[in-house]
Amino acid sequence: MLKIAVLVSGGGSNLQAIIDKVSDGYLDKVAIEYVISDTKGAYALERAEKVGIKTLTYDKKEYGDSLSKKILDTLKGKVDVIVLAGFFSIIKKELIDEFRNRIINIHPSLIPSFCGKGAYGIHVHEKAIEYGVKISGCTVHFVDEGTDTGAIILQKSVPVYGEDTPKKLQERILVEEHKALPEALKLISEGKVRVEGRRTFISAQ
Ligand code: GRF
Repeated sequence: MLKIAVLVSGGGSNLQAIIDKVSDGYLDKVAIEYVISDTKGAYALERAEKVGIKTLTYDKKEYGDSLSKKILDTLKGKVDVIVLAGFFSIIKKELIDEFRNRIINIHPSLIPSFCGKGAYGIHVHEKAIEYGVKISGCTVHFVDEGTDTGAIILQKSVPVYGEDTPKKLQERILVEEHKALPEALKLISEGKVRVEGRRTFISAQ
């Protein structure tokens, strides 16, 4: 079993996608051990509690710079993989070092477009529309010391239409996020993802 912790800050629709895929058997080798929120009252916590997953809130206002250390102390030796599913705090080096190539993030664009500092939430889609791209999408990647710079595991694309608003594009991409994150977790849980420098290789069987 691949034991995971899911880190959240808000609504948690990506967390829900993982919960659903564990319960329908698609993620039959994944167990969600913890959901940790950096924000008090995040709706994602309710989603977890509803299905009996252990939740913890380490509010960023309270923990500030020691948030990563607190998460590290909680999860060290307890989980195999950490999933950032709409987690908006910066993860520090000490946590990354302990979980090297074992922390994954989902970002709502085709990295390296529309990512990095300031590219979060609706801003990502505003930037994509402003730039005039015809295709956008989402990326699941490993987390390294940079912002959205780690090795890419998989990406899914969607068309961008002339009449799109940032909100419409966000919704279209979110549908793909809910497929991409469980898919990446399945590959990892089956030992099919190998990292070599910036590149990942997915084995067939
Ligand atoms: C998603 O768009 C994800 O890509 C980004 O934050 C958003 C979180 O949405 N990192 P949700 O909380 O999973 O609904």
